[in-house]
Amino acid sequence: MKRFILCLLLFLTTFAQDVLASVLAIDYGAEWIKASLMSPGVPFDVLLDRNSKRKIQSTVGWKREDRLFGSDAFNIAGRFPTDSFSSLKFLQAAPFDSQAASFYASISTADVVKTERGTVALRRSDGTEWTVEELIAMQLGYVRDLAESAANEKVKNAIITVPPYYTEHERNAVIDAAEIAGLSIMALIHDGTAVAVNYAMTRTFNEKPEYHVIYDAGASSIRATIVGFNSIPGKTKKDTATSITVKGLGYDRTVGGAELDRRLRDILINDFNKKHKKEIRDDKRGMAKLWKEASRVKAILSANAEAMTSVESLAWDIDFRSKVSRNEFENACKDLKVRYAKPILDALASADLSLDNITSVILTGGASRTPMIQSAVRAAVGESKIAMNVNADEAAVLGAALYGAGISRQFKTKDIRITDMAPYDILVAHPAPAKADGAQPRTLNALIFSTASPYPKKKTLTLKNKEDLTLQLHYRSPPAPGFPTDIIDVQIKGVSEALQNLTEAGAIDPLIKATIQLSESGFVSVHEVVAHGEIKDESISGKIKSLLGAGSSASATKTESEDKPSARSEGAEASTTATGAANASETKEAEKKAVVKDTIELKIETTFPTLPPLSVQARRVSRERLRAISNAENAKQQKEEALNTLEGYLYRVRDLLEEESDTPFRKCSKAQERSAMREKLDETLAWLHDQGENASTNEYVSHRTALENLEYPITHRYTEVKEFPVALNNSQKWNWSTRLFLTEAKLNLEKEVETGEVGKYTKEELDALEKTLKEHEVWLNDVVEKQKRVQMYDDPAVESKELYSRAKVLETHLQKLVKKKAPKKKSATTSSSKTESTTASESRTESTATPTPRHEEL
Ligand SMILES: *[C@@H]1O[C@H](CO)[C@@H](O)[C@H](O)[C@H]1NC(C)=O
Ligand SMILES: *[C@@H]1O[C@H](CO)[C@@H](O)[C@H](O)[C@H]1NC(C)=O
Ligand SMILES: *[C@@H]1O[C@H](CO)[C@@H](O)[C@H](O)[C@H]1NC(C)=O
Ligand SMILES: *[C@@H]1O[C@H](CO)[C@@H](O)[C@H](O)[C@H]1NC(C)=O
Ligand SMILES: *[C@@H]1O[C@H](CO)[C@@H](O)[C@H](O)[C@H]1NC(C)=O
Ligand SMILES: *[C@@H]1O[C@H](CO)[C@@H](O)[C@H](O)[C@H]1NC(C)=O
Repeated sequence: MKRFILCLLLFLTTFAQDVLASVLAIDYGAEWIKASLMSPGVPFDVLLDRNSKRKIQSTVGWKREDRLFGSDAFNIAGRFPTDSFSSLKFLQAAPFDSQAASFYASISTADVVKTERGTVALRRSDGTEWTVEELIAMQLGYVRDLAESAANEKVKNAIITVPPYYTEHERNAVIDAAEIAGLSIMALIHDGTAVAVNYAMTRTFNEKPEYHVIYDAGASSIRATIVGFNSIPGKTKKDTATSITVKGLGYDRTVGGAELDRRLRDILINDFNKKHKKEIRDDKRGMAKLWKEASRVKAILSANAEAMTSVESLAWDIDFRSKVSRNEFENACKDLKVRYAKPILDALASADLSLDNITSVILTGGASRTPMIQSAVRAAVGESKIAMNVNADEAAVLGAALYGAGISRQFKTKDIRITDMAPYDILVAHPAPAKADGAQPRTLNALIFSTASPYPKKKTLTLKNKEDLTLQLHYRSPPAPGFPTDIIDVQIKGVSEALQNLTEAGAIDPLIKATIQLSESGFVSVHEVVAHGEIKDESISGKIKSLLGAGSSASATKTESEDKPSARSEGAEASTTATGAANASETKEAEKKAVVKDTIELKIETTFPTLPPLSVQARRVSRERLRAISNAENAKQQKEEALNTLEGYLYRVRDLLEEESDTPFRKCSKAQERSAMREKLDETLAWLHDQGENASTNEYVSHRTALENLEYPITHRYTEVKEFPVALNNSQKWNWSTRLFLTEAKLNLEKEVETGEVGKYTKEELDALEKTLKEHEVWLNDVVEKQKRVQMYDDPAVESKELYSRAKVLETHLQKLVKKKAPKKKSATTSSSKTESTTASESRTESTATPTPRHEEL
């Protein structure tokens, strides 16, 4: 069981502020990307894109050299049909020959090519090829940039939602793209489960579970998740936890919003072809425009019985206009009707529940608004079960962010425990010893995780093999047409030697035990393989050991790892150990006592027979490729900014020079200075006109600096004209304060000499201050005289900066004396009043002795 703590109000735990790292949640869809940021000091909500939209069109594209994202990228498809890439989710880990890839080719105008790995890449009009992982990484990078500007810090940790039916390969593709984008994936979460987390956040449940169906109709597919919610009582009310258990799954990978768009587009294609006796399929621009139009028309038909199609200059300069009715559209989708609600029925069957057990069917996903889908669901489950009490677009991403906050352990949140469900049967094929000497060796298939088995989970497989062998983990059947069934191959090495060693040590019939794990992000791995045999140890410690061993293996519950969670690494598991598997390290503990080694860990090597995840090297190459684009974009942006700043500056200088009246600029400049600037200005304008277009950022900057250097002394003069009186006031203030202080202190000193007391200040101290004051005064008188003779167009006789620093010297000297503590003497007094104070205190001394109390320090 995944265990983490969530709460509606996010309090920061004891972690120091600077240790807190933001968590970015991304709901990456075929049509829309939603993101949400969990960051200290940032209100928790969905992340807005650069146009302040709450969802980002899932498209990346290029308008010639400029890379675009979101709707900007989507809208250029009509002009640049092979440079605008939408619906990429269909291609995650899709083999080139799969049905998913051919569906993509049927809806997209992009040029599809095959990669060396057998997956899909897309070719731009300039001939460059980009893998699906790279294109998705660009989008994730765009989202990360949005998050970083919102958080005002680097954002690295992310959590991404995936459909529950995603295979190992598809999950790897998600992580590969994220890593290329420089994100570190803490976990993947099923979108239905994420909606459940969001749903549970504001609600309380009984101990007896209540079941809800989360029906999610997206652009790529429809899925139904049956979730049981209940409370787990703790010692006190505050310790009550909420449990979320996925009980059933149903899905249809090939019916969703995009399939509906395709049907509608085909109506438009037929209309056009019939009307204009042309084949619009031959025109990529036209096809891209129709795809966009289909999605617009579909939205209109959701609320209206009819919609007008209108695309100007669709192709061959023909403006295409036609009318589509909802009836016509629904007729074209007739065969899909039975598939809309079927995932719910499948989910119920897999959960072994009936509709009577379901409290509500929660509708989410953009396509759940389509009337024919909604009415099919209403018909199947009954009006009374339908609930639209979550935000159809945002519930999943918000739930994912709350989940991420919980596992990041940096935000204090409500205690929610999740058990998810495996979508497929996972089997292990392994060679078995021949039944008889000389018989054919056999291959056995063991079902290790069955569909609907809860996870995260570990299971142990016991093998009687005597030699090295390979475990082949695989799905029972292709998860989707054209998808591989292989997951991983795991070679186990050193078997015979380990078995022999155990036998020599006295073990009877030692065996191989392989622990196989289904992680909380849904990844399968072989966690550990050991050779193990009971060794009869007749010593007392041996007996104790066997007692310990028997007792503890049943309750071998693993505590959560303190490591930062990471979806694909071994460190991610936080789970219960399944079955009575020998816990290796426990055994080691016991060994120390018994000094008998009955378990030997075996070396394993994991390989990927088909569709391996990207290698470290491949990811690095892609990351560099993307970084090069970003760098070029930044350089281009800087250059544009430098050019804009230069141009703006030149116009400002031109205006300054053309002013006839008594502007500060005119008053503070000499004629010859102005003509030098005029000359430089004309020269720069001419340069800009001739070569400005192709110049470098540095040239723009250096041309501006040259002119600024001429302007600076003039500007400086008039800031000095304004600043001088203020600085002079300051100097006079310290002059006056010091004089006042000295007068009073000297009076006190005289009195003390008369009464024979020890005073606060010595004569030497006061003389030294007097000297500093005199120096300051002499200097000040001098510069004030000089400054009187200075014209406005001359440089000042003294800089205000110097006035301040000279005054500071005097001030510091004065403050030193003011802060001095009075000598500790009962009779110490300073009073300026005639009476001697009996409770002479420091503070009193200060406040009477000086008109400048401490807090007035500058
Ligand atoms: C489902 O409903 C049936 C009939 O109402 C009931 O007998 C059964 O106990 C319920 N199952 C669960 C798990 O609540
Ligand atoms: C088996 O025992 C030998 C001798 O003690 C040792 O060198 C070797 O590493 C052992 N092999 C394994 C797999 O434990
Ligand atoms: C085995 O048990 C020890 C101590 O009880 C624990 O720290 C460790 O995490 C367990 N290992 C596994 C794989 O469950
Ligand atoms: C800028 O450079 C390009 C190619 O180097 C050239 O074709 C163009 O004429 C140049 N423009 C100017 C204003 O010099
Ligand atoms: C200087 O100080 C005096 C008295 O505090 C004030 O009246 C006068 O406005 C000040 N002059 C400037 C230029 O700050
Ligand atoms: C400094 O202060 C004294 C008395 O407070 C005053 O007579 C003198 O003119 C001042 N000097 C300057 C330079 O302001």
